[in-house]
Amino acid sequence: MTPDLMKQGGERLAAQQAKQAVKEPRGSLVQAGPDFRNGVALYVEDISVSFDGFKALNQLNLTINVGELRCIIGPNGAGKTTMMDVITGKTRPDSGKVFFGSTIDLLMLKEPQIAQIGVGRKFQKPTVYEQLSVTENLELALKADRRVRAALFAKLSGPQQDRLDEILTLIHLKDEGGRTAGLLSHGQKQWLEIGMLLMQDPKLLLLDEPVAGMTDEETERTAELFLSLEGRHSLVVVEHDMKFVDQLTEGRKTVTVLHEGSVLAEGRLADVQANEKVIEVYLGR
Ligand SMILES: Nc1ncnc2c1ncn2[C@@H]1O[C@H](COP(=O)(O)OP(=O)(O)OP(=O)(O)O)[C@@H](O)[C@H]1O
Ligand SMILES: [Mg+2]
Repeated sequence: MTPDLMKQGGERLAAQQAKQAVKEPRGSLVQAGPDFRNGVALYVEDISVSFDGFKALNQLNLTINVGELRCIIGPNGAGKTTMMDVITGKTRPDSGKVFFGSTIDLLMLKEPQIAQIGVGRKFQKPTVYEQLSVTENLELALKADRRVRAALFAKLSGPQQDRLDEILTLIHLKDEGGRTAGLLSHGQKQWLEIGMLLMQDPKLLLLDEPVAGMTDEETERTAELFLSLEGRHSLVVVEHDMKFVDQLTEGRKTVTVLHEGSVLAEGRLADVQANEKVIEVYLGR
């Protein structure tokens, strides 16, 4: 290529990048990726959210460390789901801060950008493609192009195929890869959806009542699955099922109790269960 052509190419590229930067003023932050060097995955400071004057979150503070598995409990209406809505960009808070790692201000980003930088969220109701097979669901989750046809006809790379096989085993669906997702049990659909999230390798996973409606055996296997994810991912698990929380926390991890939009207590499950304020608002009901 002649120097002239190279120069023109370079100018074109620079112009394109500038245009992109105007379109996505916050793009540079996203491209830089999260910085976890201080050991913090998620930092929430003084978050308040009100709905028509009612404070669903009231100066909420929360810090989740890198690789930590944190269970959040609290009575109905405590603000647990609203907290996840704020972290994932679905709800804008009135005030406060939310940081992913030490540099990414999640309140500056939109919902899809937050998902893209590595915050995965599992809603209570499983949302899988019922007509597709288990494997096809996982393949779709991996593709940037979410149009079903385009994604299904693109081939996975070697490492992507390895990751898919690894996840099939993790979510206990190794023998069900070819099965139509619509035919799975409720618990298996939940696992498949978790598998779909894992295909994108999120650094932080938010799981809202993941074992609701599961059988005891499915619940136990879900706890094993989450314990196997700890370390590689940071997990925030909201649950009402105390047996499940007990299994996840292994008698030593921190549990956070939310009440009326703030942290009421934090500590080991046995300790918060013995806390009088907690008994009063929640466990004694
Ligand atoms: N979009 C909304 N508009 C008005 N009020 C809302 C909205 N979302 C939540 N709320 C209210 O905020 C409070 C907190 O709700 P949230 O769903 O966060 O509680 P939760 O802790 O997840 O409860 P649960 O254990 O029942 O799921 C509730 O009183 C709820 O009615
Ligand atoms: Mg909820």
